Amino acid sequence: MFHTQVLTLFPEFFDSPLSCSIPKRAIEAGHLTAEMIQIRDFATDKHRTVDDSPYGGGPGMLMKPGPVVDSIRAAREKQPDTHVVMLTPSGMPFTQAKALEFTKKPGITLLCGRYEGFDERICDYVDEEISLGDYVLSGGEPAALSVLDAVIRLLPGVLGSPESAVLDSFTEDGILDWPHYTRPVEFEGKAVPKVLLSGNHAKIDVWRKEKALERSNKRKD
Ligand code: ADE
Repeated sequence: MFHTQVLTLFPEFFDSPLSCSIPKRAIEAGHLTAEMIQIRDFATDKHRTVDDSPYGGGPGMLMKPGPVVDSIRAAREKQPDTHVVMLTPSGMPFTQAKALEFTKKPGITLLCGRYEGFDERICDYVDEEISLGDYVLSGGEPAALSVLDAVIRLLPGVLGSPESAVLDSFTEDGILDWPHYTRPVEFEGKAVPKVLLSGNHAKIDVWRKEKALERSNKRKD
């Protein structure tokens, strides 16, 4: 059983995505647990403050260290072997290889920030910092959701077809998937490539590998 926890100010953000499709079925089938932890529950003042203005001036507010660090401690108490990941645009890029690496851990805890970011000292309490890409989201939640989704579909037993896992190992090498076609055989004047209708599986395999390489080289330029 893989244990996921999310530290967030918006636990309701995850309600709908985790209650449909593959994540829903994976949770119901007992492949993972997903627990949302409200960071605000760890605030100590009567206004339940979790943010404050930056020293040195500047716009926006930062997540205060106290409530965030206490929420990390609570997550580690619940799941002592958990791997704590901070979502931040200044982290290392998230990749398919990283998703696979996370599935090998007993569980992960995803820390989501709001406002302009985290007090820098919080970084000392996490195991790694991950970015979804070179753009700024309004919070870590959409990034955490993407990480969760990419990890969940790689957990053993979650995807129906074992071939999907083979395809994933293909994408890990940085090789993209080949183009796919379904019915009708002609759509608005665009035909399905003839080789796919040939029934010659050796030829189809060669064509697919060629197309995948072609596409991968083009995207990397
Ligand atoms: N929080 C805000 N922007 C982010 C990004 N690009 N990746 C991860 N977390 C973020």
